[in-house]
Amino acid sequence: MQISIQKRSVEDLKTKPEFNSNLGFGKFFTDHMFIMDYRNNKWINPRIVPHGVLSLDPSAMCFHYGQEIFEGMKVFRGTDESVIFFRSMDNFRRMNNSAARMEMPEVDIDVVTEGLRELVKLDKSWIPNQKGYSLYIRPTMIATEGVLGVRPSDEYMFFIIACPVASFFPEQQGKLKPVKIFVSTQYVRAAPGGTGSAKVAGNYAASLKAQVQARKFNCQQVMWLDGIEHRYVEEVGTMNIFAVFNDTLVTSPLTGTILPGITRDSVMVLAKHLGIEVVERRFTIEELLSGMKDKTVSEVFGSGTAAIISPVSSMIYKEQSHVVGNGETGPVAEKIYNALLDIQYGQAEDPFGWTTVLK
Ligand code: COI
Repeated sequence: MQISIQKRSVEDLKTKPEFNSNLGFGKFFTDHMFIMDYRNNKWINPRIVPHGVLSLDPSAMCFHYGQEIFEGMKVFRGTDESVIFFRSMDNFRRMNNSAARMEMPEVDIDVVTEGLRELVKLDKSWIPNQKGYSLYIRPTMIATEGVLGVRPSDEYMFFIIACPVASFFPEQQGKLKPVKIFVSTQYVRAAPGGTGSAKVAGNYAASLKAQVQARKFNCQQVMWLDGIEHRYVEEVGTMNIFAVFNDTLVTSPLTGTILPGITRDSVMVLAKHLGIEVVERRFTIEELLSGMKDKTVSEVFGSGTAAIISPVSSMIYKEQSHVVGNGETGPVAEKIYNALLDIQYGQAEDPFGWTTVLK
C-alpha cells in the first residue's frame, strides 16, 4: 500500500520543547501522525498528515462502547545519532492480539511498520539524544462507525502519534529511583475471561479509582491482585511485576488476566542472559510481604515500556507500610536496567535481534 505524505510547511512546524526534565511524559507531540481507515473489510488510505485534531461523529462507537486498543513503544537516539526502534514488531503483534479480543480488525504489520518508519523519518529531529529520553510511540485503533447498536463496528481508524519523553514517573527523571505502591484490596484490574491480557483503554479507565486512592497514600502506582481470591499478585499499574526471592527472579505467569509486557519479556531474557534464574509462578501478597519481612525477598520492581524498570521501595497493604529490602534500588533491577538501556541506545550489542536501525 502506498503511503501518502502531507508535510507541514516550514512556517507551520511546531516549536519543540527543551529536551530536559520539564519534558515530562506524553505532553508534547511531534509535527506529524500516521493514519489509515478501515472500510468494507479492508484498511485503506494510509497517510501521514500534520498532527492535529480528529473529526469524528459523536455517535462513533468508540465513544459509547469503548472499542479502543493501543500500544506503547519507543524509538531511541543512539550515541552515533542513529535512530533505533526497539521491538516494534512485537508491539504490533500484541496489538493484533488485542484487536482479536475486541473484535476489531488486525493491521498488516508490514504496512504499519512502514507507516511508523516514515513518520519517524519525518519527525526525526524530535528524538531526544540523551540517555533516559526517547520518542514514545502510541499506535491506536478506534471504532468510528456512527451507530448506537452494541456490536462490533464496521469502520475503524488506526493512527500513530509520537511524543518525546523523559521519565514516566516525574520523581525519577532519568534515574532509577524507587516508587511506592499501593496494594488495592477493593478494586480489581482483570478477571478470568475479561480483557486483562489485551491493551484496551477500558482496563486503564477502570484502574483510575484505585490510582486516586494510591495517590492519597503518596503512592505512584497500584498493585493489582487477582480478581477471584484477591491474593495473587498480578500487575502493578502500568507495569508487570518482578520480585527477587532468594536470588531467583520471579514474575506472575501470563494466565490471561495479565498484560504480556514486551519489557516483561525483555527483562526475563536479559536476566537469564546475565545468569539470573527466572521463574514464572503465581505468588500471593502474603508470601511477598512475609518474604520482605524475613529478607528472603530482596527486591521488587516493575517493568513497562513507559516505566522501563521501576524499583519499588515500599508497599501499602491494608493501610500498613512494608519496606522492600533497604528501600533502595537493588542490584538485580539495576543490572537489568543498564543492560536494557545499553541495547536500546545502541551502546551494547543486541544478541536478541530486538533493535532495528532506521536507514
Ligand atoms: C506503556 O508502558 O507504554 C503503557 O502503555 C503504559 C501507560 C503509559 C498507559
